[in-house]
Amino acid sequence: MTTILAIETSCDETAAAIVKNRKICSSVVASQITIHQQYGGVVPEVASRQHLKTINDCILRAFSDANLTWQDIDGVAATCAPGLVGALLVGVSAAKTLALLHRKPFLGVHHLEGHIYASYLSETELKPPFLCLLVSGGHTSSIYVEDCGKYELLGTTRDDAAGEAFDKVARLLKLGYPGGPAIDRLAKSGNPEAFPMPEGKISLPQGGYHPYDSSFSGLKTAVLRLVQKLSQEDPDRLPVADLAASFQATVARSLTKRTILAARDRGLETITLGGGVAANSELRKQLTLAASKNNLKICLPPLKLCTDNAAMIGCAAAEHLERGHTSSINLKVKSRLPITEVMQLYQ
Ligand code: KG4
Ligand code: ZN
Repeated sequence: MTTILAIETSCDETAAAIVKNRKICSSVVASQITIHQQYGGVVPEVASRQHLKTINDCILRAFSDANLTWQDIDGVAATCAPGLVGALLVGVSAAKTLALLHRKPFLGVHHLEGHIYASYLSETELKPPFLCLLVSGGHTSSIYVEDCGKYELLGTTRDDAAGEAFDKVARLLKLGYPGGPAIDRLAKSGNPEAFPMPEGKISLPQGGYHPYDSSFSGLKTAVLRLVQKLSQEDPDRLPVADLAASFQATVARSLTKRTILAARDRGLETITLGGGVAANSELRKQLTLAASKNNLKICLPPLKLCTDNAAMIGCAAAEHLERGHTSSINLKVKSRLPITEVMQLYQ
């Protein structure tokens, strides 16, 4: 067994966890959502300062919840890329300091590899290869998971991430931040076929469309035009539920089609889901239905593992450490790093 203390501070969640391979001993997540809500989105500088205030308490609680001590820990991990640089620095500095102090190996972890490993925490028998659809506020990626550290990016968004589209459309419909849960709730009382919307296909220079890439900015503009037109017609009776349901169904259809196609093209038998948008009820419903029609297995981790947490970072770090991978104590944080470059984090 490999026991890891892991830290995640890449965006607006301060998180610490202790995991033994695929078993969670403790997982503490301090969300900053209520702080950023007043600004209508995440403010990077505010996020870093808040991480600084919260990080020590989160780590102490991770130890007390797990009822473990430093003697039980084999390595200390932290998300080091991609993310907000100031926010990442807080977690990485804490992890490096603790690793040096307690003479444990330090491991930097790629945030998206962490999201992939969330599936291992909920489905402990899961084995690669499989396809992971990662849909969050910052990412929309279809990732071919070949092995630990070996990934291929099959499809991505050309503009807004799926969660970003939910947040922007929610702002248009005056539903507040974060927009995804609000749209999901409201869509339940709306008609998903009320307003046909564009799915966001990406044209290829040689003709036809990219099979796995998507675009959400056209869809957002379509909602904006509809809101403008309908508000002119009757400003007091905007059909918000129908707009939300139609938008949500279009996003779910676009993601489902591309995911199933990618899995089938690559001969994969299993699809896993991760990121905040994985909570979306329509996406879960459409993917589950399409997977069963295509004889594919689907792993839908519980929401607390889909959104940012440190347990998923620890799970990835445990496997790397078992393979002898450790990071330099001089490892730098990076705002961007392709998932295909994960192995450059290790020596
Ligand atoms: O993964 P996450 O917690 O944070 C990162 O962006 O890394 O994802 C947050 C995103 C937000 O854009 C939020 O609106 C979206 O996930 N989200 C949802 C739902 N719950 C959260 N989107 C659609 N439906 C939901 N139920
Ligand atoms: Zn994330």
